[in-house]
Amino acid sequence: MTDTRAENRKLWEEWSEDFQALWNANTAEGEAPPAPCPFTDDPPGGSQPDLLPTVEGIDFVELGCGGGQGSVGTALEGADTVVGVDFSAAQLDHARHLRDHYGVDARFVRGDVTNLPLPDASFDVAFSGWVYQMVPDLEACLAEARRVLRDDGLLVFDVPHPMYERMDPETNTLTRSYHADPRREIVIDEDYEADMVAFDRKVSTLHNAAVAAGFDVQRLLEPGTADPDDYEDKPLESDRPDLKAMVPRTVRFWATAR
Ligand SMILES: C[S@@+](CC[C@H](N)C(=O)[O-])C[C@H]1O[C@@H](n2cnc3c(N)ncnc32)[C@H](O)[C@@H]1O
Repeated sequence: MTDTRAENRKLWEEWSEDFQALWNANTAEGEAPPAPCPFTDDPPGGSQPDLLPTVEGIDFVELGCGGGQGSVGTALEGADTVVGVDFSAAQLDHARHLRDHYGVDARFVRGDVTNLPLPDASFDVAFSGWVYQMVPDLEACLAEARRVLRDDGLLVFDVPHPMYERMDPETNTLTRSYHADPRREIVIDEDYEADMVAFDRKVSTLHNAAVAAGFDVQRLLEPGTADPDDYEDKPLESDRPDLKAMVPRTVRFWATAR
């Protein structure tokens, strides 16, 4: 079996340039690259104003920040401290460019979401978007998120929905049992040396791990509608609209630290 962490890290170093190009695919020349805050109305499931009325003045950390879009977007909305952590140097390079483009204050540090190079109880809000599905040790991810959050702090995380990930792209039918081993290897590009290793964990596994790590799950969101037209013409969303109208693309948790 491959060393999952080493394989995924290598994959992200290889993929980063093309992945960031996807983020900017709909950006017209001269336009600012996108930097959406993960807590405004557009992201999966929308905002939850009763749980997070504003990001103004908060201390914020993004766990697996990639190209820094969520961190920069949160800084633009008025967060006080913004830190992004990622294990890919190439991804962090993009994040720092984006930060400099917008001229906001954000710090991007290299580290692993299972061993954060950050002090205890130093943030009000942590966000992790589409990262935990690549990490074999989910418990360590959540324990580290809990450690760096203050009591009553908020963790928002999402992963690709495990049902969506188990569907055949040709036939839109299940390829594997929902109960089967969650581990899967995905070829991103035949020319890359590394493949992605992902874990399509059951929703109950994610939920119970968050509770065991010291979180109260306040919202569990599986956004989407049954109308394929709702997925057309949206950056990063327009592939496989028929399947998205059948199965949620994402599952998102809003959880508070006990
Ligand atoms: C799909 S990207 C998501 C990034 C960002 N949230 C976004 O939406 O573009 C996943 C990111 O997680 C990072 N990552 C994966 N496993 C990690 C780990 N164990 N520790 C730190 N970063 C990790 C990858 O380098 C990559 O930048």
